Amino acid sequence: MVVMLFQNIMEDVERLKEEAGVAACDFIRDGMKLGLGTGSTVRYTVMEIGRRISEDGLNVVGVPTSEETRKLALEVGIPLVTLSESGGLDLVIDGADEFDNDFSLIKGGGGALTREKIVAQSSKSMIVVADDRKQVTTLGSFDLPVEVLPFEWERTRDRISSFCSGEVSIRGGPEPFVTDNGGYILDCSFGPSITEPKSLEVKLLSIAGVVEVGLFVEMCDAVVLASKGGVVTLINDSGRLN
Ligand code: A5P
Repeated sequence: MVVMLFQNIMEDVERLKEEAGVAACDFIRDGMKLGLGTGSTVRYTVMEIGRRISEDGLNVVGVPTSEETRKLALEVGIPLVTLSESGGLDLVIDGADEFDNDFSLIKGGGGALTREKIVAQSSKSMIVVADDRKQVTTLGSFDLPVEVLPFEWERTRDRISSFCSGEVSIRGGPEPFVTDNGGYILDCSFGPSITEPKSLEVKLLSIAGVVEVGLFVEMCDAVVLASKGGVVTLINDSGRLN
């Protein structure tokens, strides 16, 4: 009984991810240069772009934010370019682990935060696809992912621990998870207390050994949000789509 209930909940979540991922494709126009995010929600976006290319003749190119997305994009027939070749992107569509009322994000649950941020910073606009579990008042219930160099990573962890209220743990434990860049991920348990994400980002980035922080501030222009009641698009009033 409990197992069936859990299965139903997971199927519902999967359906919401698909609805958000597909709905975000309405922002795509012919000729666009797209950033292709990473994760289980934006996966549906990537597959839908592939379908529109093969069935509707959509003409776009993409820059993937991870090796996982590169593989999927090639499988579904999206032509890929590098950021340099693209000369800049029109739109990046990506997932998030949390977003708050200011459209600040925690990202990196899949470990792709550094490439995701490089791609997002090269794009004229950013849309996040999410289900309603990701919407929060204050960021931080989801442990903040920070990519670090493997060199003396324990020292980097200790520096972060000196001001992180909760645990700072190495992803993967004794056999650390290795990112596409050869880095490690520290998951930092700040709890729902990140009211000043920009200053926390700057503080973390000042620590030697930190490669990138999974806080995305003043980057997200809209969230395509799926809930049981349907899909809505939340537009950031201070964003670039307004
Ligand atoms: C990948 O590193 C992440 O930033 C993802 O975009 C984020 O974790 C959301 O992933 P899901 O859509 O799988 O929840």
